[in-house]
Order: sequence, then C-alpha cells, then structure tokens
Amino acid sequence: MTLIPSAAEPNGGVNSPGSNRPLFSSRATTLLRVGLGGAVLLVASSGFMATAYFHSDQWDGVGFAPKQPVGFSHRLHAGELRMDCRNCHASVETSAFAGMPSTQVCLTCHSQISRDKRTLRPVFQSSARNVPLQWIRVTQLPDHVYFDHSIHVNKGVGCTTCHGEIGRMAVTEKSEPLTMRWCLGCHRDPGPHLRPLTELFAAASPPPQTREQQRDLLRSYHIRIEDLMNCSTCHR
Ligand code: HEC
Ligand code: HEC
Ligand code: HEC
Ligand code: HEC
Ligand code: HEC
Repeated sequence: MTLIPSAAEPNGGVNSPGSNRPLFSSRATTLLRVGLGGAVLLVASSGFMATAYFHSDQWDGVGFAPKQPVGFSHRLHAGELRMDCRNCHASVETSAFAGMPSTQVCLTCHSQISRDKRTLRPVFQSSARNVPLQWIRVTQLPDHVYFDHSIHVNKGVGCTTCHGEIGRMAVTEKSEPLTMRWCLGCHRDPGPHLRPLTELFAAASPPPQTREQQRDLLRSYHIRIEDLMNCSTCHR
C-alpha cells in the first residue's frame, strides 16, 4: 500500500470506500513532497551543524540554571541544614508531581530566622500580598510524555539519579538531559540505578551497589521490566 500516492492517480485523491485510500488530497500530497524534499536538502546541508547541536549540552538544556525570584539554595537547606526533600516537595512519594513549597513553608523558619535579610524580602512580600512565589521551572518534559514521581521513588530510584547532586547546588540547575534516550537507558536495565530505601532522599549520590545488592534490590522492589520499553508506557 502506498501511503503517499502520486498526484496522477486515477481517483485523484478522492476517498472512495474500499479503495486504497490516500492519506491526503493530491494537492496536499504535492505540497508535502515539496516540503519534504526541501527539508531533506536542508538537513543534508546542515548535517554537520545538526550533529554538533544534538550532541551539545545546549540542546538538552543540561546546566540550565535560571535566576529565581528568591536566591534559594539547596546547598544550604538540603545540604548543610540537612532538610528532607519532602518538607518542601511533599507529594513526591504519593503523586506524579513532586510539588513545590508554599510561602508558608518558608515562613515556618523565616518568620524567626534572617527576618531582616534583604534576600528574603520577596518571601515576606509574597506572604503579605498573598501571592505565591513564581519559581521558574528547571526541569520540564513536553506535554506528550507521561511521567510519575511516586512510581520511581517507590521502586528505588533516588532523587539525585535524575536531578544530580542537589545538596551541592547554591543555584538549582538541570543536570541530566531528561531525553527519551536517557529515560530508556535506565528502563532497559534499571538494576544498577536502584538504591536502598534509606538513600532515596539523600542530597548526595550514595556509593554504587555491588552486583549482588543490585539483584536483591530488583527483587525486593518487585521491579517488572517487561513493559518499561513500550511506547505506551510514556506516551499515553
Ligand atoms: C527548617 C528551617 C528553614 C526553612 C523551612 C527554610 N529556611 Fe531558608 N534558611 C534557614 C536557615 C537556618 C538559614 C541560614 C540563616 C543564616 O545563615 O543567617 C536560611 C537561609 C536562607 C536564605 C539566605 C538568607 C541570607 O541572605 O543569608 C534564603 C534566601 C532562604 N533561606 C530562603 C528560603 C526559602 C525561599 C524557603 C522556602 C522555600 C526557606 N528558606 C525555608 C532555614 C530555613
Ligand atoms: C526548604 C525547602 C526545600 C527543600 C528542603 C528542598 N527543596 Fe527542592 N526546591 C525548593 C524550592 C524553593 C525550589 C524552586 C527554586 C529552585 O529551583 O531553586 C526547588 C526546586 C527543586 C528542583 C527543580 C524543579 C524544577 O523543575 O524547577 C528540584 C529537582 C528539587 N528542588 C529537588 C530537591 C531535592 C532532591 C531535595 C532533597 C535532597 C530538595 N529539593 C529539597 C525548596 C526545597
Ligand atoms: C526517574 C527520574 C526522577 C526521579 C527519581 C525524581 N525526579 Fe523529580 N523530576 C523528574 C522529571 C522528568 C521532572 C519533570 C517532570 C515534568 O515536567 O512533568 C521532575 C520534576 C521535579 C520537580 C518539579 C515539580 C514537578 O513535580 O514537576 C521537583 C520539585 C522534583 N522533580 C523533585 C524531585 C525529588 C525531591 C525527588 C526525589 C524524592 C525526585 N524529584 C525524583 C525526574 C525525576
Ligand atoms: C534511573 C532509572 C530510571 C530512569 C532514569 C527513568 N525511569 Fe521510569 N521507571 C524506572 C523504574 C525502576 C520503574 C518501575 C518499574 C516497575 O513498575 O516495576 C519505572 C517506571 C516508569 C513508568 C511507569 C510504568 C508503569 O508501570 O506504568 C513510567 C511512565 C516511567 N517510568 C517514565 C519515565 C520517563 C518519562 C523517564 C524519563 C524522563 C523515566 N521514566 C526515567 C526507572 C527509571
Ligand atoms: C521511558 C519513557 C519513554 C518511552 C518508553 C518512549 N518514549 Fe518517546 N519520549 C520520551 C521522552 C522523555 C520524550 C521527550 C524528550 C525527547 O524528545 O527526547 C519523548 C519524545 C518522543 C517523540 C518526540 C520527539 C521530538 O522530537 O519531539 C516521539 C516521536 C517519541 N518519543 C516516540 C516514541 C516511540 C515510537 C516509542 C516506542 C518505541 C517511545 N517514544 C517510547 C520518553 C519515552
């Protein structure tokens, strides 16, 4: 079956039941062909540049560290003060979304600590005006991808595996590409990336597991790898 029939075809692109239905009208098909031809030329001529671009960190945004409305530091709060991630990302174990802290969470401490600091002014303004702080997203997947935090966290995948050494970041940055290829890299063979329950929320990466420990973890978390590579797992 031809998906893109030629414009000279007898039915001229008109869909008649039971015939070899063309996908598009002949006019659209011609336009599509011209378009595709152009695109192929363009890609061929810029092949070298495209390769360089796809393999650079620019493309997948690794290192992206936007300026936030408050100079919040994970290095201080999660690293030095050893605050648990769940104090501020409260739904990470129970829902698809990790969740972001409300201004009220900051004020449980900052209504007392550093009250006179300029750096905290936006926090107090947010509270006084009852307008949430507008944090700028560091990691974001396209809408056509389905992702769920709770599944990963409950199956032994820790935060730093996907978000890097958060406990060292004075400014939060994207440290993994989060591309399809990257997701599949783990879905193909999750064993080496799992860690014990006690290390899931660590702000620094724990030491690697031995082969035996990996096997035990795969078993104790009841990991099912059969469906992990299916398109419909992530594109629903
Ligand atoms: C568990 C308590 C606690 C919570 C909750 C907390 N902080 Fe802090 N924060 C601290 C402590 C302690 C310091 C260090 C104070 C110092 O060194 O003077 C600090 C320092 C800061 C500073 C640097 C102040 C300066 O200029 O020295 C900022 C900015 C800040 N916090 C923002 C936030 C924001 C935003 C939130 C909410 C998302 C938050 N903090 C939640 C305890 C907390
Ligand atoms: C005191 C509150 C607090 C704690 C504790 C905390 N975070 Fe955060 N987190 C924030 C705030 C505020 C932001 C938004 C500002 C920023 O990106 O730095 C944020 C942003 C993030 C982001 C970027 C999300 C995005 O796409 O924009 C990640 C990833 C993250 N936190 C992971 C962690 C991990 C992992 C831990 C524990 C090791 C942790 N956080 C502990 C408050 C906290
Ligand atoms: C398997 C990889 C993976 C793990 C493990 C993981 N995250 Fe994420 N995280 C992501 C991805 C991907 C996004 C972007 C999601 C989106 O755009 O829909 C994200 C987004 C976030 C955000 C932004 C808000 C949101 O929910 O979209 C925060 C905060 C965050 N993660 C914190 C954490 C914390 C804390 C942990 C550990 C308890 C953690 N993450 C574990 C991959 C992961
Ligand atoms: C470091 C390893 C790792 C990475 C990276 C990772 N995953 Fe997973 N993923 C897992 C494990 C383990 C499971 C749980 C398998 C099970 O249910 O037993 C899982 C399960 C899932 C599921 C649920 C499947 C179901 O049972 O319904 C989805 C959806 C998913 N991952 C999407 C993603 C996406 C999208 C990314 C990339 C942004 C990603 N994952 C990155 C390890 C990973
Ligand atoms: C483990 C999760 C996962 C699985 C399984 C998966 N994808 Fe994806 N896919 C992603 C993520 C994440 C993105 C967005 C980031 C990117 O473009 O790399 C994506 C993007 C795409 C895109 C858009 C590319 C673009 O340039 O915008 C297509 C098309 C796609 N996937 C097709 C597939 C097909 C076909 C399969 C099955 C063979 C599949 N995916 C399986 C996670 C997955």
